[in-house]
Amino acid sequence: MPLMTWDESMSVSVKEIDDQHKTLISLINQAYEAIQTHDEHVMTELIDKMRAYASMHFAFEEKLMKKHGFPELEHHKFKHAQFNSEVINFRKKQFEKTNLSQIFVFLSRWLTTHIMNEDMQYTPYMPKEETTED
Ligand SMILES: [Fe+2]
Repeated sequence: MPLMTWDESMSVSVKEIDDQHKTLISLINQAYEAIQTHDEHVMTELIDKMRAYASMHFAFEEKLMKKHGFPELEHHKFKHAQFNSEVINFRKKQFEKTNLSQIFVFLSRWLTTHIMNEDMQYTPYMPKEETTED
């Protein structure tokens, strides 16, 4: 069973961002599965992939929030930075063989709450279709 699943209730009504959330959730699930099966090589690869994808995704969101004048941008950026530093922390812990499963459970809950509470707030400011172009 996957750790996280995306459903319509998580839609922020911007297709590109919904697609990115789905990819991020899929990467979290894949990394979690690798942790469960103790596949260290795949695990390290997926964690790095997930981390890189998360920071690309956050940067994308921040760029759009800025472009469309979302007033809570600074607070939202702070939340993203918190996630990034958690990921850096567990990357260190991975080498110390700390309980990675628990950390992933935490990250998946964090992301769900973040999408439902914080990402939803920018929805009224964003156009439905968005591209990476300025
Ligand atoms: Fe966000």
